[in-house]
Amino acid sequence: MSSTLQGKHIILGITGGIAAYKSVMLLRLLVKAGAEVQVVITPNGKEFITPVTLSALSGKPVVSEFFTANTGEWHSHVDLGLWADAMVIAPATASSIAKMANGVADNMLITTYLSAKAPVFIAPAMDLDMMAHPSTTRNIALLRSYGNHIIEPASGELASHLTGKGRMEEPENIVAVLENFFAAGRSMAGRRVLISAGPTIERLDPVRYISNFSTGKMGYAIAEEAAARGADVTLVSGPVSVEAHHPAIKVVKVESAREMLEACRSYFSDCDTAILTAAVADYAPAHPRDKKIKREHDGIDSIELVKNPDIAATLGETKREGQLLAGFALETDNAVDHGAEKLERKNLDMIVVNSLADAGAGFGTDTNKVTLLFRDGRPAESFPLKSKKEVAADILDAIATL
Ligand code: CTP
Repeated sequence: MSSTLQGKHIILGITGGIAAYKSVMLLRLLVKAGAEVQVVITPNGKEFITPVTLSALSGKPVVSEFFTANTGEWHSHVDLGLWADAMVIAPATASSIAKMANGVADNMLITTYLSAKAPVFIAPAMDLDMMAHPSTTRNIALLRSYGNHIIEPASGELASHLTGKGRMEEPENIVAVLENFFAAGRSMAGRRVLISAGPTIERLDPVRYISNFSTGKMGYAIAEEAAARGADVTLVSGPVSVEAHHPAIKVVKVESAREMLEACRSYFSDCDTAILTAAVADYAPAHPRDKKIKREHDGIDSIELVKNPDIAATLGETKREGQLLAGFALETDNAVDHGAEKLERKNLDMIVVNSLADAGAGFGTDTNKVTLLFRDGRPAESFPLKSKKEVAADILDAIATL
């Protein structure tokens, strides 16, 4: 099968880090996938890998300086920035990341980055302490907030012989990220997506509440993936500690199921797709107090509860022709049967079933193992244990086929 990178113009930016040796393999894989690659290397990068190797593999002279010293030929970073369909900077050192985040245009690579109109993919590589330093964290968050795609470094043995997070992602995986991005049907440009995420909390009094263990990670991962594919995302979120990074995600914070219902109802009419990942509390205290319940005076021994509204079912009732509604079902037993029942009852088009019985799935984990059930009669689709980011991509791929 031909790669989605066939004929694509890619700028490969190489900065001065030990991982630059892996960029040779990355370049080879990009060229093999049919991409036209222009290498731009920083002066420090050349200390780690020679332009001769890179120009031989790319079939193009490597660009490093603003002009060629002996001929005076000027290299236009603006033209390069316009030529590219994507720019990938791998490895990106702490110092280049800082320059990109703050617009310090003191070499050809950074000026090209600042002129690039195409999506930019950044693969950091550095020692674990540099990676964990607050300045690096802040600079990477800034780059994310500009809409750049960060290809997270992996954990493992580093050039310093220490073990930790900071290893540049493997070239095959970087190519896979780019291929995914260009894959036909993946683009969600122009789509408006509503996502509910996190738990709801239902107040008992000003200091106590009923809730559940949802952390919002799955919903936020779907929001990031949809935004990276070009969608306009409204993320209605219960109280969580995860944060949304992509500038195309609008976060609407709510607390209770009733507030979540109101927010979802008001945004749903404008959306073409809604993905309800929230773990909505099914019950709320019937008589929340406005003063703290005291152990001695109030001496309560039971809490009267009322049923909360079913947000998914409410949206399912008002769903228009052409709108897609997807839900989640986290079960402890008979997961697929319960999921199939919810798919019908809530008038969903797809439901993502996950089971607490599976190791690595469910609340708080960074992984999930899901089965997708569809309303249109096609068979269920089961996936192995994957990162929540990969699961998010699988879910959006499935939604694209509905
Ligand atoms: N959901 C919702 N509003 C609720 C409850 C659930 O929107 N009050 C949505 C969830 O976001 C999820 C789907 O419905 O997409 C299934 O949630 P789940 O809690 O499994 O469904 P319940 O109907 O509450 O079933 P259960 O009896 O298993 O709690």
